[in-house]
Amino acid sequence: MSTPFFAPVQDGVKEVEQLMRSQAGNDHHPDLRAALEHLLVAGGKRVRPTIVFLIGNMLAAPHEKLVTLGAAVEMLHTATLVHDDLIDGSLLRRGIPTLNARWSPAATVLTGDFLFGRAAKLAAEADYLPLMKLFAETLTVIVNGELTQMFAAKGIIERKNYYSRIYAKTASLFEMSALSAAMIGTEDEQIRAAMKTYGYEIGMAFQIVDDVLDFTGEQATIGKPVGSDLLNGLVTLPAIYYAESHPDDPEVKLLAEGGWGNTEKMEKLVASIQSSNAVRHAMDEATEHVEKALEAIKPFHTSTEYPALMGLARYIVDRTF
Ligand code: IPE
Ligand code: IPE
Ligand code: MG
Ligand code: MG
Repeated sequence: MSTPFFAPVQDGVKEVEQLMRSQAGNDHHPDLRAALEHLLVAGGKRVRPTIVFLIGNMLAAPHEKLVTLGAAVEMLHTATLVHDDLIDGSLLRRGIPTLNARWSPAATVLTGDFLFGRAAKLAAEADYLPLMKLFAETLTVIVNGELTQMFAAKGIIERKNYYSRIYAKTASLFEMSALSAAMIGTEDEQIRAAMKTYGYEIGMAFQIVDDVLDFTGEQATIGKPVGSDLLNGLVTLPAIYYAESHPDDPEVKLLAEGGWGNTEKMEKLVASIQSSNAVRHAMDEATEHVEKALEAIKPFHTSTEYPALMGLARYIVDRTF
């Protein structure tokens, strides 16, 4: 990322990438090492370690601990993506084939597990029990979210269901990234709570934008398939707003009755949503979350990291990938 908020953390993120790379180790299976290399080469926006460094630096947390924590968070994120792509049957991620596109489900699951194990070890190296608890808690929230999405979300056109899903699968990890950096930087509960709010709000915005990009994005730009949420029965915010304002639309009714397997009809619904104002409505809501994140960091306006934290929050809604 060549965005201004990224520059101050660039060196730290490089250290995070090195540390992640070293996790493969020489005594592990060569296929595992190849898989890790494949995942690391693909890159990623590194948004979560960026949060860790900006907040950690602002609170003068020890640099080495931030590197370890950043790697733990990014490894956890990578592990969830490996499993998520297998679950979703997605063949493209970060512009290159996913592990499941090349490998058996069994090998893919095990590689994800390896990453989870390494992430936990790195988190433990921060040597702070409350952080380890937060890490374990967050992982269970994410997994529970994926299970809920699989069994109790398909075809459900309901905002409450949507918000709890996006908290679980995405905002919880943003929240953890922000809070854990604050935890190693300060014991002040008020500051920790403010950082937690910042992470939560940009996390909610991030997933809403991700869901909007599924309607408006280009595969070549975002590096993963687009237009696939509805076809998987996943009713995200733009679709919910559209359904609320068009309750009699035949495709909306079909979706609610479990008809997302009808590709032709769902593609028609995608087109209707794209040309409605539902996308703008969803983006407005993402922007409201960003405003709340900005509110949470206002007390820190004299800090060196403040402009970058602001820039990062704004980037979440301006991004195109
Ligand atoms: C993808 O996260 C999964 C979601 C939470 C939407 P990112 O968009 O941060 O993925 P990378 O790491 O940049 O590839
Ligand atoms: C994000 O969910 C995956 C997790 C955080 C577990 P999505 O399925 O919406 O993400 P993409 O669109 O595949 O990146
Ligand atoms: Mg997915
Ligand atoms: Mg998605």
